[in-house]
Amino acid sequence: MPKKYQGSADLDKFVVNGGKRLRGRVTISGAKNAAVAILPAVLLADGPCIIENVPDISDVNAMISALKILGADIKQLKKNTFSIDPTGVKSYVVSKEMAQGMRASSYFLGALLGCMRRAKVAPPGGCEIGLRPIDQHIKGFEALGARVTIEQGMVVAKAEKLGGCSVYLDVVSVGATVNIMLAAAKARGMTIIENAAREPHIVDLANFLNSMGADIMGAGTSVIKIRGVQHLKGTNYSIIPDQIEAGTYMVAAAATKGDVLICNVTPKHLESITAKLRETGVTVEEGDECVRVRMDSRPGKCNVKTMPHPGFPTDMQPQFATLLSISNGTSIVTEGVWDSRFRYAEQLTFMGADIQVDGKSAVITGVKSLKGASVKANDLRAGAAMIIAGLIADGTTEIEDIEYIDRGYECLVEKFSSLGADIKRVSDYDTINQLKAN
Ligand code: EPZ
Repeated sequence: MPKKYQGSADLDKFVVNGGKRLRGRVTISGAKNAAVAILPAVLLADGPCIIENVPDISDVNAMISALKILGADIKQLKKNTFSIDPTGVKSYVVSKEMAQGMRASSYFLGALLGCMRRAKVAPPGGCEIGLRPIDQHIKGFEALGARVTIEQGMVVAKAEKLGGCSVYLDVVSVGATVNIMLAAAKARGMTIIENAAREPHIVDLANFLNSMGADIMGAGTSVIKIRGVQHLKGTNYSIIPDQIEAGTYMVAAAATKGDVLICNVTPKHLESITAKLRETGVTVEEGDECVRVRMDSRPGKCNVKTMPHPGFPTDMQPQFATLLSISNGTSIVTEGVWDSRFRYAEQLTFMGADIQVDGKSAVITGVKSLKGASVKANDLRAGAAMIIAGLIADGTTEIEDIEYIDRGYECLVEKFSSLGADIKRVSDYDTINQLKAN
């Protein structure tokens, strides 16, 4: 994690000088949304687990801190590898401080219910991209036999025993699918989740649980069957590559008219992103565990509608819209998952983009170029979009509120710099020091 000056608000920002075409190769880290589901799942084990390819990002570091407070014995074996022994965990309370405003803190409900039949967890936070209810999570817990109440602002779940059930999700929900899998893994009998999420991180969690001795079938389809088992043993597991981080670098390569080899990816997880990039004229070549992205002209327009996997991922919407903002034509972007995921659009208009947002759709009329400006990261993926905008803009772009970006992108400055980008992390503390020095 980048060093931060202690004692000050998070004053760091990114300063990007645009106009550099990205070239070279970049290696993708472990998937954030798989890691934040697998780490709480370790609580279900009767022994220690070794987890590899854990991304060094703030959401994951917060999750690890919370596990330590619960009583897990955690050792960092090397940069992205941890040994986690949950056998010493006695507490089932995840406070507001432990949750640190993360959406994934809700996964402690399913994991603690699954291993201790009790959980008391602060309401989840997460990026402000629309209402983020957990009614479908609670529906699953209650179907399994738990009682869920809100007590002093905490979500409290308890169950004498958990029994297999059938749950139909009223809306395709990644979080609810994860949480019900966690609570059902050691329940008595068969649990069937219908209308389940199909994201790669759902499959990764199921594979992790099965490596511990769980009996989960159908992950990756809309019907997941979980036959509860009495014991789950410790295991060794490596987290899948992050398809959203990979997609972000693919779009950045295309937007800067670059030529980048993106390594340590699962091309199948990138299919919808590859398809849409090709629609705009970008060349994408797929290898076994890499993709090469090349572009030497202005991208063409294309319409995008975000949908649950295998549709175009909502977490790639801001980044792709930034590419379209300099395209040759007018595109329509429709957000099919979240209520308000266009907050970044205003920031892009400060840079000269022409984006008209109307409810869940945005009409983007491509402009020849963006101009550097001082902008904010409204949320994690909006922040990624600002980075891409800075890379392609004329002049300098300063991006504030970058703690959002730290939540999901490991070694971002190092990775983009290695591709030729002119990007620095500046802490106002440095600036203050510089001023003092003069
Ligand atoms: C996960 O959020 C991801 N976060 C999000 O990624 C991602 O945007 C989202 O899935 C969709 O893919 C993590 O995995 C930590 P949902 P989650 O439950 O689980 C509604 C990122 O950038 N819904 O699939 O919170 C909900 O309001 C982040 O990495 C209910 O109505 O998303 C939304 O409209 C941002 N009731 C839709 O379902 C519920 O009980 C999808 O939400 C749950 C969800």
